[in-house]
Amino acid sequence: MQIIFPEYRLGSMIPPLFHTMLCIAFLMPRIGPYKLANPVALAPMAGVTDLPFRRLCAEMGAGLVVSEMISSNPRLRDSRKTAWRSVHDFEVEPRSVQIAGSEPLELAAAAQYNVSQGAQIIDINMGCPAKKVCKKAAGSALLADEALVKDILHTVVKSVDVPVTLKIRTGANPGERNGINIARIAQDAGIAALAVHGRTRACKFEGEAEYDTIAAIVAATEFPVFANGDIDTPEKAAAVIRRTGAAGVMVGRAAQGKPWLCGQIAAHLSGETIVSVTPEKQFAILRRHLLALHDFYGEFMGVRIARKHVSWYLQGQPDYRSHRAAFNGLQTPAEQLQQITQLFNIDRHKEIAA
Ligand SMILES: Cc1cc2nc3c(=O)[nH]c(=O)nc-3n(C[C@H](O)[C@H](O)[C@H](O)COP(=O)(O)O)c2cc1C
Repeated sequence: MQIIFPEYRLGSMIPPLFHTMLCIAFLMPRIGPYKLANPVALAPMAGVTDLPFRRLCAEMGAGLVVSEMISSNPRLRDSRKTAWRSVHDFEVEPRSVQIAGSEPLELAAAAQYNVSQGAQIIDINMGCPAKKVCKKAAGSALLADEALVKDILHTVVKSVDVPVTLKIRTGANPGERNGINIARIAQDAGIAALAVHGRTRACKFEGEAEYDTIAAIVAATEFPVFANGDIDTPEKAAAVIRRTGAAGVMVGRAAQGKPWLCGQIAAHLSGETIVSVTPEKQFAILRRHLLALHDFYGEFMGVRIARKHVSWYLQGQPDYRSHRAAFNGLQTPAEQLQQITQLFNIDRHKEIAA
């Protein structure tokens, strides 16, 4: 794995005792034949974790990145969105591709298709509450039907010779927290690793993530479990690992506009001192991100997709709203690059939250 900013990972030669103990306490998670470089995964996020963003996060130290979900419906394979989501050129290995659907045979066919396109891990989405997925009783809506979950998992695992992982929530709603049952079904089906977002489907993104439910799932199973939900700092990641006993953490929203966050968390978990990301470095990363978006999506869509990412990078800066509004009015890649150059020059000497 290429680390573009090695100074992020420079740590003290003698880590504090706590860190040393933490390092010894967990082994690097293994997913089938793939031993991860560290236990920090970037969560799949539709519309966010596209190839340009995944590559940045991986280069800056994420131990695993997962594609945005790809529908199992073969009729959507030629759609522009699915085509973009299916590109894995120059992806950091192992290439994990998430599929979403509700029909066991269709999901198995989708798994086979994506393996034929280069996927090295197939991830099944039973964690996403998005309407478009759930209207078809896919994503986290499947959790309410354990027999169907069992059928899907056995069918998909048997259909491919790469590891299959699963992403779930803790249940359909607070009255039906069947995450432990689902995890046991997954283990029996031969699932290689599990990511658990510590909320039920009905809880959406509200309330506290249920780390104790994740701890119970970890205790009930043998395979690597990634704890997910509200992890936004290296310290929180360490606390979640201590509390849940999980093999790793999965980080979603907090990484938006901070492609260095997974790497910082990994550094902290291995006892290294975290070096904050200076505004100059943020500018260099953002510039590279913009160039990659313009290149990947083409000028028209690249300019539009860049807007939300730039908005996340700028969050917390002085005059955030006016800068964002100005940026959103720009129509060409050259204007966007010029604008961020000006912005970061203006703010060169101001502290930006890392
Ligand atoms: C914009 C957005 C898109 C998401 N898309 C997916 C997806 O495609 N597949 C999936 O399994 N989860 C998806 N999720 C859920 C995240 O992977 C993750 O479980 C959730 O955001 C909780 O983690 P966090 O608190 O670190 O953000 C999405 C979340 C967000 C915010």
